[in-house]
Amino acid sequence: TPADIGVIGLAVMGRNLARNFARHGHRVALYNRTPTRTRALVEEFGKEGDFVPAETPQELVASLARPRRIVIMVKAGAPTDAVIDEFVPLLEPGDIVVDGGNAHFQDTRRREAALRERGLHFVGTGISGGEEGALNGPSIMPGGTAEAYQSLGPLLESIAAQVDGRPCCTHVGPDGAGHFVKMVHNGIEYADMQLIAEAYDLLRHGAGRQPAEIAEIFQGWNAGRLESYLIEITAEVLNHTDAETGRPFVDIVQDRAEQKGTGRWTVQTALDLGVPVNGIAEAVFARSLSGSVALREAARDLPGPTETWLDSAASDRFAEDVEQALYASKIVAYAQGFHEIQAGSAEYGWNVNLGDMAAIWRGGCIIRARFLNRITAAYQADPQLPTLLADEYFTKALGEAQSAWRRVVTTAAQLGIPTPGFATALAYYDSLRANRLPAALIQAQRDFFGAHTYQRVDREGTFHTLWAGDRSEQRQ
Ligand code: 6PG
Repeated sequence: TPADIGVIGLAVMGRNLARNFARHGHRVALYNRTPTRTRALVEEFGKEGDFVPAETPQELVASLARPRRIVIMVKAGAPTDAVIDEFVPLLEPGDIVVDGGNAHFQDTRRREAALRERGLHFVGTGISGGEEGALNGPSIMPGGTAEAYQSLGPLLESIAAQVDGRPCCTHVGPDGAGHFVKMVHNGIEYADMQLIAEAYDLLRHGAGRQPAEIAEIFQGWNAGRLESYLIEITAEVLNHTDAETGRPFVDIVQDRAEQKGTGRWTVQTALDLGVPVNGIAEAVFARSLSGSVALREAARDLPGPTETWLDSAASDRFAEDVEQALYASKIVAYAQGFHEIQAGSAEYGWNVNLGDMAAIWRGGCIIRARFLNRITAAYQADPQLPTLLADEYFTKALGEAQSAWRRVVTTAAQLGIPTPGFATALAYYDSLRANRLPAALIQAQRDFFGAHTYQRVDREGTFHTLWAGDRSEQRQ
């Protein structure tokens, strides 16, 4: 019997995905450039299901049912192109090529167009949840044609995480839509992690709590509206003691955060689309700053505030305030991410259903969180919602949190604890709700030095003031 699906690239993600397919009763063809990996998989996990190892691309292609469905699980960039180039000549019109790596959505658009010309379907697919998710149920974000999804969807849905009986997988939209949404998922992931890290820092260095105590606070939060995978694992990390030194694990890790680039892509793309994602941008910059060793070394002696701790009464209340600030800032980060998806969808004509995106992030992925239900509900109530902040539930939550949020940002500034994530989220909130922004002054300055013109609040038209002359106003 022919195989239902082929998996190419059997490093840990590919291997786990192949096992996941097999465990769900699908016959899985396997190919890896070095065949030892293929053999090892069959040897170790052959009992889990029905595997068809192939030693050559030709063998893999020959083993598949038609239309052929192959999933590429190799490194993004040149390695992905190399595999595509190797397999495309062996395929026939109607066959479906899936890229499950973290590809840039513009690469996916390019590849989709190229394969479409040859009558092939190219499905750029976001897969989130790391190694664990790939094996036991990831969140899956496939792009590509509706036709390709008809054939591929049931397979993907069968291996995805399930929440309330629904798979965390849906057809996102044409060409690059799936990888775009995965990119923004990762941008939100960066922002979420930064905010959690700031909350920790405030409790540690403002309220003077020890990591184990903070773990307990996080566990408490995880029982409420902040319930999420990232809060849960944070509590675990903070509870962990380094075996060698007996010190809290968090204290023995170098404080330089690395990145592989998806957060940066989210911000670069947002800049191009003109979408303000300052929470995500701060999170990317915070990682860069943490890794700027020479910069930090050179600035070490800059003076800080004299007051550096809260008294103990204040520190008890403070933990509650931080919970509020974290929730409010998190709402802002997600609002920015969804705004970017909305803008990308409009720019590329993808027609992405925003509520469905929140729904398929409820399980399997790194940013899975209880409050995603609220986002789905918000977009169900109004699919055209310009910003999540304007949804009734979120408006109310932000209103209730705002005093605490302001206290946290103020206290952080007074104590000299950097909270770029909390602060920029609050600034975003206040900017959006402002009646008048000082952008009016910026327009005036631009007109002054460069005759860049401005619009008036009381009349239609474009104007310029003769700043260097008699300061009379000209209609353009
Ligand atoms: C996921 C993760 C995954 C990966 C990121 C980490 O959704 O499963 O986001 O894609 O862990 O690439 O990114 P950084 O290495 O940039 O932190």
